[in-house]
Amino acid sequence: MRLKVLRFDPAKGERRYDAFDVTSEPGMTVLDALFAVQNDLDDSLAFRYACRGAVCGSCAMLIDRVPRLACRTQVARLLEGADRVDLKPYPAITDGEPWDPKQEILVEPLPHLRVLKDLVVDMEKFFDCYRAVEPVLKPAHEVPEREYRMDGETVRELERYTNCILCGACVGACPINAENTEYLGPAALAKLYRFHIDTREAGDDSRLLLADKPSGWWGCKFHTNCKRVCPKGVPPNLAIGSARRRLTEMGSQPPEPDEEE
Ligand code: SF4
Ligand code: FES
Repeated sequence: MRLKVLRFDPAKGERRYDAFDVTSEPGMTVLDALFAVQNDLDDSLAFRYACRGAVCGSCAMLIDRVPRLACRTQVARLLEGADRVDLKPYPAITDGEPWDPKQEILVEPLPHLRVLKDLVVDMEKFFDCYRAVEPVLKPAHEVPEREYRMDGETVRELERYTNCILCGACVGACPINAENTEYLGPAALAKLYRFHIDTREAGDDSRLLLADKPSGWWGCKFHTNCKRVCPKGVPPNLAIGSARRRLTEMGSQPPEPDEEE
C-alpha cells in the first residue's frame, strides 16, 4: 500500500508530496501507517496524535480528501472504497494532487488552518473562535445543595453537542471557513448552542446574541459537510438552524449579502 503525504518544510517554505510504500496489516489505521513511515522510512515526518483512540481529537487530517481522525480510519476500508463521504466541494478537496484511491492513500493537513510542519497545523485560530463563544458554564441559579436535576430529553439533546472532541474536522470540511477567515465555524457555533440549551444557564437567549452576526450564525449556508465528517456525530448544522429560527423570532434579521460587520 502506498501512502502519499503532503509535506511542508517550514525552514525552506517548501511543499511537496512524498510517496511511501508501507506493508498493510489487518486493522491498520492511517495513524499506524504514519508510524510505520516514521519508524522505518523517514523519521522527519511530523504529525500530531495523543490518545490513539478517537478521544483527544488531535489526529484530524485530510485523508483521501475528507477530514477524518487518522487513528480511527482503517487503511483497508479506504482502499476498498468503503468509507466514502460525499462533500460539498471546496478548494482543498477539488484542487490538488491526483491520486489512485484504490492503490494509494492521500494524506494532507487539515484545511483552513496554518500548516506548521507536514501534517501538523496551528490550532490557534480554531481555539480563538472557540474562546470567542465563551465556552464555560455560567449558572444563573443558586447552586443546589445536591445535583442539578435535568429531564432525560434535555440531557439527550445536550449530549449531542457535549460529545465534541474539538478535533477541527468540521472546520476543515466547511466551505464557508474556506472563503471567510472571520467565520466562527461549525465547532464553535455548536459549542455556543450547547450552552444556550443548558438549563443551568439563564435561558434568556443572551448566549445566542454572541454570534448574531454575518461571521456567526448567519454565515452558514447549510452545506452540512460538518455533520458528515464529524467523528462523534455532532450536528452543528442543526444547532445553527435552531439558533437562527430563535433569532428570527426575536426579530433579528439575516444580514444583507455584502453587509460589513
Ligand atoms: S463538532 Fe465534530 S468535527 Fe467538529 S470539532 Fe467537534 S468532534 Fe470535531
Ligand atoms: S489520536 Fe486522539 S483522536 Fe486520534
